[in-house]
Amino acid sequence: MSKYLVTGGAGYVGGVVAAHLLEAGHTVTVLDDLSTGFRAGVPEGAEFVEGRIQDAARWLDASYDGVLHFAAHSQVGESVVDPDKYWRNNVGGTIELLAAMREAGVRKLVFSSTAATYGEPEDSPIREDAPTAPTNPYGASKLAVDHMITGEAHAHGLAAASLRYFNVAGAYATGDGVAYGERHDPESHLIPLVLQVAQGRREAISVFGDDYPTPDGTCVRDYIHVADLAEAHLLAMAAMHKGSEGSEGSAGSAGSGDGKDGIAPGEHLICNLGNGNGFSVREVIETVREVTGHPVPEVAAPRRGGDPAVLVASAERARERLGWRPSRAGLAGIVEDAWQFAQRAGS
Ligand SMILES: NC(=O)c1ccc[n+]([C@@H]2O[C@H](COP(=O)([O-])OP(=O)(O)OC[C@H]3O[C@@H](n4cnc5c(N)ncnc54)[C@H](O)[C@@H]3O)[C@@H](O)[C@H]2O)c1
Repeated sequence: MSKYLVTGGAGYVGGVVAAHLLEAGHTVTVLDDLSTGFRAGVPEGAEFVEGRIQDAARWLDASYDGVLHFAAHSQVGESVVDPDKYWRNNVGGTIELLAAMREAGVRKLVFSSTAATYGEPEDSPIREDAPTAPTNPYGASKLAVDHMITGEAHAHGLAAASLRYFNVAGAYATGDGVAYGERHDPESHLIPLVLQVAQGRREAISVFGDDYPTPDGTCVRDYIHVADLAEAHLLAMAAMHKGSEGSEGSAGSAGSGDGKDGIAPGEHLICNLGNGNGFSVREVIETVREVTGHPVPEVAAPRRGGDPAVLVASAERARERLGWRPSRAGLAGIVEDAWQFAQRAGS
């Protein structure tokens, strides 16, 4: 079993991945400054350090087998009005984290990248060799980190995986009933927003544009269950252990990847994570009505700039290299889990 530093583990995705690592028997330290995360979001059994990735050198040492790096600011709209905040935290913070890892001799990294690195795609589904042309500073900051990691891997023998998430959704409940889900403030993701309408906490859901070239005219996105996403992180770590075999002792493995080739020191693997299925805004709203049994009023609103009609992932590379197969691809199941969490959290 291995020991991991999880940055941003008090947030939505990092908390779910930390819970999966603990369930697999690993030792986890969560490093989070609680800027958008919650102390209660850190899974029981994880050591919690309240601090910034910019100061990671204070805590990181050679006892760690790897780092899973979720800590970031991730509000697209905020990044447009306050880009400096995104460059400082997402890029500046990661520079310090990479330096701390190098200093401590920790040579395995999984990074939360994003579909926002691609911008408006020319082809669908989007493959990793598609052009990267982010349309906002958030996506640009994540792409800059991807480039930094490539350089670090080549120059200093880091083994790394950037996982480019599409629309993460749903919630995860551990065997003992503790639930981890989404509660961003402000919330900008569609499923929790529509659930807030179903709960009566918001009057109506705005549908931004209904004249896109899609079957029902609304935007189509690829929703991936957060538990499927978490499994990909464990498989990526397992691939790095496999890729290091021979160059180190038996460090143990994070999951049970059946990808053929590991990720070797010096390699930076970039993989999309999505279902490969798109669902429209209207389909999401209709599914929320069906799952919750509550009315969901809609308001038609103009298109938003920079909203592509369709964003759907090709996750072929994650299948081939990591042996990853999402098993919770249905929209109703994703919405059902998110609804259970929203009711428990009252959020
Ligand atoms: N949720 C999505 O749909 C989605 C999609 C693509 C990519 N991502 C990426 O996944 C990661 C996690 O997203 P999330 O939705 O869980 O966000 P989140 O805001 O819930 O979690 C981010 C966490 O990082 C912490 N943090 C931020 N800056 C920090 C710093 N300098 N030092 C220490 N902690 C810091 C926050 O307090 C928070 O707990 C982010 O990197 C995000 O860019 C998310």
